[in-house]
Amino acid sequence: MNDLTVIGSNMIDLITYLDRMPVEGETVEAPEFEMGFGGKGANQAIAAARLGSKVRMITMVGHDNFGKQQLDNFQKNGIDTHGIGVGESNSGVAPIFVDPSSDNRIIVVKGANNELMPDVLDNFTDQIKYSKLVVLQQEIPLETNYHAIELAQQFNVPVLLNPAPANEHLNVDYVSKVQFFTPNETELATLTGLPTNNLDEIKIAAQTLISKGVGNIIITLGSKGALWVTAEHTEIVPGKHVKAVDTTGAGDSFIGAFAHYYSSGESVPDALAHANQYAAVTVTRKGTQKSYPIATELPALLAATL
Ligand code: ATP
Ligand code: RIB
Repeated sequence: MNDLTVIGSNMIDLITYLDRMPVEGETVEAPEFEMGFGGKGANQAIAAARLGSKVRMITMVGHDNFGKQQLDNFQKNGIDTHGIGVGESNSGVAPIFVDPSSDNRIIVVKGANNELMPDVLDNFTDQIKYSKLVVLQQEIPLETNYHAIELAQQFNVPVLLNPAPANEHLNVDYVSKVQFFTPNETELATLTGLPTNNLDEIKIAAQTLISKGVGNIIITLGSKGALWVTAEHTEIVPGKHVKAVDTTGAGDSFIGAFAHYYSSGESVPDALAHANQYAAVTVTRKGTQKSYPIATELPALLAATL
């Protein structure tokens, strides 16, 4: 069984669809608002679970009603919730603004996610030990991710670190220990301090991390797909052409799907091609987790995007 452990955040997404973003000091009226489940860790876990992976989530929900709803959502999606704690703070929330070109702006209020401290992981060492892959992002304290990387390394379990949102304090010594590092162009620039304005610059920046020991770097390129870089090999795995309406959580759906397909035994390029397809479907639908299909829905949805 392709067991995955996702250690990370959960948020309630408060999504406003706008005709245009307001300028400073301006008030605009928006035609549509939606509330849904989000947070990078939860999104990745839900995507993998909806595709059929057995997923364990380690996260911290708030002591409020949102926290109860999050727990319920994980359970409804078949996720093992033994690693979910209830913090003293409010649940994490993310006000999100989406414009008609499908671009978004996101504010993250981490709340209880900030309470997921490194020592919490010591209660779940068996979960980590028996995982095919441990999946991390950056909406919890960095020290917790560092401890997760140490534990996984101790048990020879591969780690995927998605360095989103970008954090200039991320310690490259820990990055060098992971098998999969999955930044977008901005996150790669933040970590390396190098420009990533075109493919050549992205490849050079990625190679500086490869030379420090990272196994695979996967740079997500929006509609263009993903670039896979190893010490020996560089390959673009092209994205699928679709009409995007809301790209919120596209990166997370891509990571969750990649984790699912890779840990199910697919090669890296095959898993990337399938992750591109899954993420492409999600951008054609509104909402974050709401846009993530289950495995059986996928063939028809893919056919409909042709
Ligand atoms: P996010 O915007 O969710 O924070 P990100 O910047 O890491 O994430 P992107 O590179 O924008 O992620 O997209 C992730 C993946 O989603 C891409 O690699 C691609 O597979 C898919 N994708 C994103 N936008 C589109 C699009 N407009 N058309 C088709 N596929 C897309
Ligand atoms: O990547 C998208 C996610 O970022 C949203 O669900 C929001 O909660 C923020 O965490």
